[in-house]
Order: sequence, then structure tokens, then C-alpha cells
Amino acid sequence: MHAQLVATRRSTLPVDDTHPYRTGAWRPMVNEWNAEPEVVHGEIPTDLDGMYLRNTENPLHPAITAYHPFDGDGMVHLIEFRDGRAAYRNRFIRTDGLEAEADSDVQLWSGFIEMPADAHRTDGWGIRGRMKDASSTDVVVHRGEALTSFYFCGDLYRIDLSTGDTLGKETWNGDIPAWGVSAHPKVDPRTGELLFFAYSKEEPHLRFGVVGPDGVVQHTTDVALPGPRLPHDMAFTEHHVILNDFPLYWRPELLEAGIHAPRFDRNLPSRFAVVRRDGTGPVRWFEADPTYVLHFVNAYEVGDEIVLDGFFQGCPLPSAKGAANLEEAAFRGLALDNLQTVLHRWRFDLRTGATTEEHLSGRYTEFGMLNATALTTPHRYVYAATGDPDRFLFNGLVKHDLVAGTETAIALEPGVFCSETVLAPRVGSTGEDDGYLVTFTMDLNADASYCVIYDAADPAAGPVCRLRLPERISSGTHATWAARSELAGASMLD
Ligand SMILES: [Fe+2]
Repeated sequence: MHAQLVATRRSTLPVDDTHPYRTGAWRPMVNEWNAEPEVVHGEIPTDLDGMYLRNTENPLHPAITAYHPFDGDGMVHLIEFRDGRAAYRNRFIRTDGLEAEADSDVQLWSGFIEMPADAHRTDGWGIRGRMKDASSTDVVVHRGEALTSFYFCGDLYRIDLSTGDTLGKETWNGDIPAWGVSAHPKVDPRTGELLFFAYSKEEPHLRFGVVGPDGVVQHTTDVALPGPRLPHDMAFTEHHVILNDFPLYWRPELLEAGIHAPRFDRNLPSRFAVVRRDGTGPVRWFEADPTYVLHFVNAYEVGDEIVLDGFFQGCPLPSAKGAANLEEAAFRGLALDNLQTVLHRWRFDLRTGATTEEHLSGRYTEFGMLNATALTTPHRYVYAATGDPDRFLFNGLVKHDLVAGTETAIALEPGVFCSETVLAPRVGSTGEDDGYLVTFTMDLNADASYCVIYDAADPAAGPVCRLRLPERISSGTHATWAARSELAGASMLD
């Protein structure tokens, strides 16, 4: 393998660290590489053309009191394929927080399971305030650049697709909301638009907007909520956006004291807001069974109905009973089996205002991906991760065939975990599953990471290609695929 070590960041974490989310598959990386990954199995398909991008969490300093995996500094991994060749780079995202902590021995801002009042700095980001915007949650590609995001509403950082370098913050000509932008901005490949939402403790608590392919914010529109909520994702159809008000929220009686303790109220419905994408017209609210949804897969219109697929949680707030400490209690809420996440379908009748809903599977999966060319249309296939019991790690994936009603499961060998897995349409693709599944593994047995490529039509046949990365990467949250046409000429391959 041709690999060049470009930089190494200083870490003040203990050498004998035992934290469950800073060891094993979550061991943070400190090195930045340029590499031509070595093919160790099969061949790189010549009709795989584009870039897989993966965001990960890599803490460099001990937390103030308690570390949560979402607190780690963002690092983006890029692997590009063209003509049977591949190039790889990984880079820390140069956030304001990363740079401010460069000379520090500890984290300066509070983390997900720490009190904002504990922060060393009085400034900060996020709906709670006094947190570090690590930009380590999601990554999307819009207008020929990658944008990385923060789960609690923050800045978007621009990443150069040719170098992996951070170009600065996206401001959309100064029109990005002062509240920041949520974890999951959405790109509609049909229009080139980016749809986003922002939320706050301030009224009206939620707003959404649309950015054109020219980078101009077309509008931002308020969607009033009864109080602060914790929306993580949104969905869109050809004409509408779908936002949410789930009965999982900070206890109002504690919020005044600066304590952010969540409650899940099974006596309240879930509420979905359907609004026209251009912000005109009324906000239509639909009630459904109480749940919380981290991620939606797709939404589309059929006559007067809107169909929405996502992952219903049977237990959005797992019990803290018997947990040894706050960390252990919080980590229960990271595992798919504890949250009981099931692929689910809601149907909203725009004529009658009625909602119907059903589970589409009995299996716990999440982090669903589909062929992006099927967005806003009736899709057949969803590719989703299976979770390691009681841990936030993906131990395999499932191909859900929603037409045949079948599921194909791929279980990784013990000690091997994968990333959010994307579908990359084959060049000249003729069908929804005519493409490749691309993922990165954390292989603890080999102490290595691989980029693994499957035939999306037949993943059970095993990988068609495996490439070794220069170093074992840390696990993380989200990934994306950008086809060649989305890269706007950017390339890491000469
Ligand atoms: Fe997410």
C-alpha cells in the first residue's frame, strides 16, 4: 500500500484508557493519511464511480466529568473510486473547538452527559449551550463540497472533496439560522436543493428552510411547537417536508434549573408536521403512536397520501434501573436492541387528516440507506445496520425487500463491525439494487480497517472487493455516497 502520514494530533487521553467508547472499535485515531488502499480481496469494480464519505468521533482529551461517544472530535474519511482505482484520505475537521483545544489537556466544553454549568468555557454551541460543536455527526455532499454537522444544532463545516481539508463554515451568504442547523440536512438529488431544519429552546422552537443549488436560502419558515423538543431528522417528498414533535423532551420542571433530563411520555401522541417545501400554506399536523425516531429513510406521495418510512423505537428511553453510573445509564440508549428500533411505515391522508401505520419488519435495524435515485418515489429496498447487543456498534446489515417481504441478513464475524453502509449505483445502473454496498469495517481481530464492497443485488454472496486502509479507524455515526456527478470535478485521483 502507498500511504503517506500527513499529520498527527496531540492526544492527552490516558495510554491505558479503559473507557468503553474510547477503546476497541471506538479507539480514537490521531493520524491523518493520504493513501492508495491495498486491494486484499477481489477487484475494485470498474463501474463503481464516486466517493464514500464517513464521519467519525475521535476525542483527543479527557472529558470534564463523563465522556459520551458523541463528544469526540469529527474526522472525515474519504475514499474515491474511478476506473478500478481508489484513493483514501482522512482528516480532522478543523472546528473552532478543535483549534481552541489544541493546547489544552482537557475538553473545554461540556459533553452530552455533562452539565453545561461544568464547562470551562462560557461560550459554546448547541441547543443546550456551552457544548463543543465537534461536527462529528453526519456528512452530506452539496454543491461539490462535503458539509459536516453536529447533532444538537450547530455549524456546518465545508470539506474540500479533493483534499479532505476544512474550508471553513458554510454560512449561505449569512443566511444560515442563528440557531444553527440540525444533524441531518437533506439533499434532494432531483433538484439540487438542500433542506434543513433548526430547533431551539426559544419560541417557536422549530423552523425549516431550503437552500437552492446556487447556495441561496430560498426561505426559512417557522413551525411552532408546544415547547423545546429534540428532533434529530426530517423527511421530504416531491412537494412537502415532514417534521416532527415526539413525546420525548426535557422535563420542563428541571429545565429552569439548567438540568436537561429527558422524559418519554407514552400518554402523548407522536405528531408529524407536513408543510409545503416552499413554506407556503398551512402546517398540517398528523398524530400517531407515541415513539421517537432517530432516522427516516424516505417519503413519497401517492395520490392524497404521504408515505413515510423510518425507524420506530419501541423503547425510546431505556430504563436506568441498576445502572452503575450516569454513563452506563446513558449508554443503554445507544444500543438498537435497547431502543427496539424497527423499520416502520406511516401514511398520512391529506384529505382526511388520518394516520395509519405499521411495522415493516420484526427485526431491530437502524441507520437505513437506500438508492438515492429512489428518494421521493416508492422504494423497494432499504439497507440497514444491525446492532451489537447493548452497544452502539453495527455487527452486520440487512437488505429489506419491501415488495417481496423478505430480508437478507449479513452477519459480520465476531470482533468485526461496520459503518453506516451506502448504496452506490453502478455506472449505467438499470434497477434500484443495481449497484454496490460500500462500508468501512473496524476489524479488531486484524487490528485493521477495510473498505468492503458488496454486490447490492446479492450481498449474501459476500464481498466482491476488500481494500485495506492505512490504519484501523474509530467507529462513528453517519456516512454518505456521492456519485461522480455530485463531485463537481473534485478528485483525489490524478
Ligand atoms: Fe443521526
